[in-house]
Amino acid sequence: MAFDPVPPQIQNYLDQLVPPRLAEMQRMEAYAAETNFPIIGPASGYLCYQIARLIGARRVFELGSGYGYSTAWFAQAVQENGGGEVHHVVWSDELSQKARGHLQTLGYDSLVHYTVSEAVQALRAANGPFDLIFNDIDKKGYPASIPVIAEKLRPGGVLIIDNMLWHGRIFEPGDQSEDTAGVREVTRLLTTDPGWITTLAPIRDGVIVAYKK
Ligand SMILES: C[S@@+](CC[C@H](N)C(=O)[O-])C[C@H]1O[C@@H](n2cnc3c(N)ncnc32)[C@H](O)[C@@H]1O
Repeated sequence: MAFDPVPPQIQNYLDQLVPPRLAEMQRMEAYAAETNFPIIGPASGYLCYQIARLIGARRVFELGSGYGYSTAWFAQAVQENGGGEVHHVVWSDELSQKARGHLQTLGYDSLVHYTVSEAVQALRAANGPFDLIFNDIDKKGYPASIPVIAEKLRPGGVLIIDNMLWHGRIFEPGDQSEDTAGVREVTRLLTTDPGWITTLAPIRDGVIVAYKK
């Protein structure tokens, strides 16, 4: 049975601690709420932005970008870090076009590179290294993405992965679906490999932050 891992009172409190967003970001948040589109939301978005600022990220690659909400947080960080590139990758042309509209309005269009493709394939074809890689693809694809990510991320770079509590499904032994198995397996891979320093932060649906040694 799926549930919200973070009680709504605490999640709302965490979201309210995030500084006010630009009107276009607020519109993107409202659209997600109206249509049930799974964006990372304000608290996780702000964490992504904070980490990108902390490491001075100039080259960011996103896998599974949707209509550009998480991209906007990374673009803000990269712009404030002095400029660079953020790769928006999704396999839907419609979402890619929608993202272009939002990111143009936000003034980030010159930083963002758009690719319509399966995201792991696009990363394999991209010129690394990247300072930060964000993974939000279908959960069954998480484990197979790790070797490609490890190759393209610079030492000292950070991998962020969303939905690592997977709405509580990981705690149900009877749930052996491909997506749930993917979340469990990628967690095991990153927390047992001495090449990574990994924390699962229980924000919204769980965010893994992994530092590549
Ligand atoms: C969870 S949503 C993205 C939300 C976005 N990261 C945000 O927070 O604004 C994931 C999107 O990536 C797409 N997607 C899933 N797996 C993918 C893959 N392997 N390659 C490319 N796109 C993928 C989905 O169809 C969906 O539109």
